[in-house]
Amino acid sequence: MAEKIDISLTVNGEKYERSIPPNLLLSDFIRQELNLTGTHVGCEHGVCGACTILMGGDAVRSCILFAVQADGHELLTVEGLTQNGTGLLHPLQTAFREAHGLQCGFCTPGILLTLIPFLEENSNPSEQEIREAISGNLCRCTGYQNIVKAVILYSTQKHKDKPQRHRDTEKRNESRRKE
Ligand code: FES
Ligand code: FES
Repeated sequence: MAEKIDISLTVNGEKYERSIPPNLLLSDFIRQELNLTGTHVGCEHGVCGACTILMGGDAVRSCILFAVQADGHELLTVEGLTQNGTGLLHPLQTAFREAHGLQCGFCTPGILLTLIPFLEENSNPSEQEIREAISGNLCRCTGYQNIVKAVILYSTQKHKDKPQRHRDTEKRNESRRKE
């Protein structure tokens, strides 16, 4: 039997310790060992971007890394994007929902995680810059138009401060006031 290697890492703020085969891909580790199936696997060759996660704050393709390479690192997957475990959507996710920035959604986790560090560096990107930022993420459904619109919506601050549930409550309160 192949030798196993002990690793310890933090994923979405939670610490994990596992003993794994050295050739286990990081994408398979995340999906199968940790049951975090929001990280999708498309090409498995580092081409489509579906498996993108953050490692130490940088966007990486988890299908071309071994899980042992993540030893000692902090990872963020799409499950960790919601606000501090509240279940409220990250404002970028809210913008995607409002601008209809997804259809089947297969590419969406990878696109969101590609955009997070990009938008931290450039909070007010041009359309061209947004298109370049996601040029390594293949989407077969949307034609990208609404993805770009979603990012512009987010970057105009409209969604930055108010989680969806708060805004729903505000809308309800406002319509009650009008009644
Ligand atoms: S599944 Fe990793 S880049 Fe396509
Ligand atoms: S929304 Fe279907 S692949 Fe992008």
